[in-house]
Amino acid sequence: MSLSISKVCSQITPSVTLKLNAAVAEMKKQGLPVIGLGAGEPDYTTPPHISAAAKQAIDAGRTFYTAAAGLPELRRALVHFLKKDKGLDYDISQAIITTGAKQALLGAFLAVLDPGDEVLLPTPCWVSYPEMIRMAGGIPVMIPTTKEQGFVPSIEQLRAAVTPRTKAMLLNTPSNPTGAVWNRQQLQDLADLAVEKEFYVISDEIYEKLVYDGAEHICIASLGKQICDQTVVISGFSKAYAMTGWRMGYATGPKDVIAAMASYQSHATGNPNTITQYAGIAALTGDQECVEHMRQAFSRRRQLMVERISRMPLVSCFMPHGAFYVMLDVRGVVGKSINGHVIASAADFAEQLLNEKYVASVPCEAFGAPGFCRLSYAISDQHIAEAMDRLESFLNSLT
Ligand SMILES: Cc1ncc(COP(=O)(O)O)c(C=O)c1O
Repeated sequence: MSLSISKVCSQITPSVTLKLNAAVAEMKKQGLPVIGLGAGEPDYTTPPHISAAAKQAIDAGRTFYTAAAGLPELRRALVHFLKKDKGLDYDISQAIITTGAKQALLGAFLAVLDPGDEVLLPTPCWVSYPEMIRMAGGIPVMIPTTKEQGFVPSIEQLRAAVTPRTKAMLLNTPSNPTGAVWNRQQLQDLADLAVEKEFYVISDEIYEKLVYDGAEHICIASLGKQICDQTVVISGFSKAYAMTGWRMGYATGPKDVIAAMASYQSHATGNPNTITQYAGIAALTGDQECVEHMRQAFSRRRQLMVERISRMPLVSCFMPHGAFYVMLDVRGVVGKSINGHVIASAADFAEQLLNEKYVASVPCEAFGAPGFCRLSYAISDQHIAEAMDRLESFLNSLT
């Protein structure tokens, strides 16, 4: 035997966003005036009543292991919340608390995929999905979508991608990176197809609370018993309650899938952080005004950013209806020059913008969207205005 890294791990591409965040942090440390539009997290701190519940848990000595699937009180609160919020009917045995939605996603893939199983994956998509699917032995089957179709695949595209090996479809609405929100008809068509062809829907709804302009987040599992029985709903606390650092998410779904995820979790990590789980109870049972407050701020910032971009040369974007990202179309910039350097790609554009104007954006090649950069508007109005000034001045200096 040789001393070598496994095939699975040597094929993993490290997350571009985390790499970018580290580079930005380093530049800031050097005193450079960087504005980061790469953030995948709210710029707010966690609401005080949620943090207070964690402090109380520590003071009360609630510092022990919990059940691997999470505290029964939290799972009960979750089931109750999902009934009220989305009309979903789950027993607590159908709910698992995880270390972030990330772990819920990996757990769901591990629970349902065998080697060689295919997972339908509309692109552009979040960078972690293809890696997770491959880590679980599956094969991501990319379904490319365009800006012109609002970044939602047609039902014909979905149907054409189904094969006898299709085991699941990854649905992400609202979407990172596109901000697209699937409407009821699009979800119903997918649900009908999934029921007809018998595949799971892994529904990542982490941005569910962040929808704008009257767009409605609809959970596909709420469309009927059959589709509910083959959907794993995944969400969490990171984006809605500004709790990214607490690391807590959840999944609900068919009893056997959740039980398999709990078995895996019991060996992989054990329960998610106990203190965090007490904070989670406060988040789900407390006043939801904090969520609405952040949603309104993101909506305003989104308009600020899109409005500025619409007046800039060479680039364009569409108005996102969810999440907190704008997909900047930079295809018109490729081939232009800055200081004699010809911009070759979105990645090159992002690098030049960072070097010249200290504005960090995320090139979307890794999201399956060459020619686009993702800009996060989860930063202050002032920073957005300043970043847009710098972007405009960069574009105006291109020849
Ligand atoms: C689409 C999507 N799903 C899941 C996650 C993971 O969230 P969590 O912090 O709950 O692990 C993210 C985080 O950026 C995301 O963008």
